[in-house]
Amino acid sequence: MDQLSVEHLLGIKYLKKEDIELIFKTADHFKEVINRPIKKVPSLRDITIANLFFENSTRTKLSFELAEKRLSADIINFSASQSSVKKGETLIDTVNNILSMKVDIVVMRHPNAGAGVFLSKHVNARIVNAGDGAHEHPTQALLDSYSIREKLGSVKGKKIVIIGDILHSRVALSNIFALQLQGATVKVCGPTTLIPKYITELGVAVETNLKKALQWCDVANVLRVQHERMDIKYFPSIREYTQLFGINKQLLDSLNKKIIIMHPGPINRGVEITSDVADSEQSIILNQVENGVAIRMAAIYLLAQQIKK
Ligand code: CP
Repeated sequence: MDQLSVEHLLGIKYLKKEDIELIFKTADHFKEVINRPIKKVPSLRDITIANLFFENSTRTKLSFELAEKRLSADIINFSASQSSVKKGETLIDTVNNILSMKVDIVVMRHPNAGAGVFLSKHVNARIVNAGDGAHEHPTQALLDSYSIREKLGSVKGKKIVIIGDILHSRVALSNIFALQLQGATVKVCGPTTLIPKYITELGVAVETNLKKALQWCDVANVLRVQHERMDIKYFPSIREYTQLFGINKQLLDSLNKKIIIMHPGPINRGVEITSDVADSEQSIILNQVENGVAIRMAAIYLLAQQIKK
């Protein structure tokens, strides 16, 4: 397989295992490129990309922008807070106005689940979902799996626990799809109020005892509590959450093995993870961020190849 089976990167749900393998193989090449003294290739000199962020982002926004620059694409950046969206313009009107400036690829983060799928049906450009509400965050899941593969040799056969606010997490859903596609076993761990009822239908087991979950796994992917998506109280207090579901060094050292610690960021230090765990030699949090650039270069490069054919 030398090209993606999809025209847009909307979610891991739409990908085949072979798509992930192709993205990883391409990312291996780009990771080598970005570690050279000259970190740039001319591959996408004829491609224009619009980065549309209707929701806040640090890592994803900067990572996409850097990936596009490393590929020599022309880029324009759009932030909803400074745009005419505030004056009542619709999503399709906003994007069609941007596309009339001859844009080939749209990278979009949006607070509404399904926004990328909706856009892909109404505009003439390749769409990359940079996170849509509590639905999917495909490039985050790809860089997470890529980082596990880099650290442990492969994802197949590995035991991964995703810990925390699963209910409001697009990272959790995309990770579940990506990890299972590659042959990993996935569990989730968190307060029952923050675990969606449908999770077992996805073939994911639930463990509410954090220590048991950590003893079972090879890798723990720790998530932030997403207060901004909560309209009710899901647990009594942050203090109680931290006591039951926070990972600290004492807990980590009490396990009979060394597990890998991951976090997609942003981290709430002292809530879901303590600093001595986040910054420990078991943590690959910054490797995840580094790998994000190579993964996003690969995804955009592969979509752009389809435009050129
Ligand atoms: N991991 C992630 O999506 O972080 P940002 O919200 O900062 O992009």
